[in-house]
Amino acid sequence: MTAAVVEGLGTALPPRRVTNDDLAQVLDTSDEWIRTRTGIVARRMVDDGVVTGDLAVEAGERALKSAGGQGADAVIVATTTPDQPLPNTAAGVAERLGLAPAAALDLNTACAGFPYALATGAGLLTAGAASRVLVIGAETLTRFLDPGDRSTAVLFGDGAGALVLRLGDADDPGAVGPFDLGSDGSAAEILTLSAGGSRLPPHRDDLADDDKYLKMDGREVYRHAVRRMAESLEALAQRAGLDVADLDGVYAHQANSRIIEAVADRLGLPRERCPVTIAEHANTSAASIPLALAAAPPRPGDRVALVAFGGGLAWGSALVRWPEVTPG
Ligand code: COA
Repeated sequence: MTAAVVEGLGTALPPRRVTNDDLAQVLDTSDEWIRTRTGIVARRMVDDGVVTGDLAVEAGERALKSAGGQGADAVIVATTTPDQPLPNTAAGVAERLGLAPAAALDLNTACAGFPYALATGAGLLTAGAASRVLVIGAETLTRFLDPGDRSTAVLFGDGAGALVLRLGDADDPGAVGPFDLGSDGSAAEILTLSAGGSRLPPHRDDLADDDKYLKMDGREVYRHAVRRMAESLEALAQRAGLDVADLDGVYAHQANSRIIEAVADRLGLPRERCPVTIAEHANTSAASIPLALAAAPPRPGDRVALVAFGGGLAWGSALVRWPEVTPG
């Protein structure tokens, strides 16, 4: 049976590192509070003038190099923070990587972007619409945070990560699938960034700060995230004919170390099988899973589940038989 197969991995982080102590100089917070509540020690932040597409190009270039430099004829950029509403970010990334006239699309399922983008990339391959797909998660969420809101300003960072998929066989090292994807629009209000779309166009001069910045009910997000990621992993394992206990690794969206530990505990998985790499990156939304794969690489042959949850609400998971791959 045909399947999408992983053949390259690349990441990009902006050089500017901002520690919890740096934030405590300007906000009523502390390194101790942030570290114990989230596992975050520092985050990377883009400088003025750097956009999501710049990070996507850097991660994409490295992933293509890691895959052997054969290019790609489709580019997906999973992002909540595109360079602008129009044009999309992916077409510019494809152009700058020398891949035009590749198919190019943005995909927004917030922090759940990476599993959704992998499923979409696999779909392009199996539909015969592409022969090699560059799947990128890239974000500059720090641009959309209220610097005075300690409940969000300490949680996020910027970055990008990418995998290259080619069409192969379900038995190949690197084979991706099955997938589990879902959404729940009834709880949309717990994680929002309201301005800039058709409801509140950016030219309006009556936008409130609550519209312009990311707003979140942290406790509710936490509760939904644990439940939905655990349920998605169970559904994924069932679809693959496995027990959750058969998974060698779970690479969860890195939003909070306690969320990942709670998912592991709920599923009875040893915590060491669920890497936590949030300390130096904070929450990088759609980029966090490929960043985690590069920071704490699975062993070749491991059966790993990638799982994420985000605004929408949206969640998703994907199974990967991890291949021999050297990050570019
Ligand atoms: N520094 C110090 N105190 C802070 C703070 C900060 N940066 N942010 C919030 N607080 C305060 C709150 O005001 C609250 O004070 P109060 O009790 O006087 O009202 C107190 O800390 C406890 O807040 P609470 O919300 O109960 O903390 P928590 O243990 O639930 O942790 C989060 C808060 C945000 C870390 C946690 O809810 C979380 O991680 N949620 C999920 C967020 C997430 O992952 N979002 C993206 C998902 S894709």
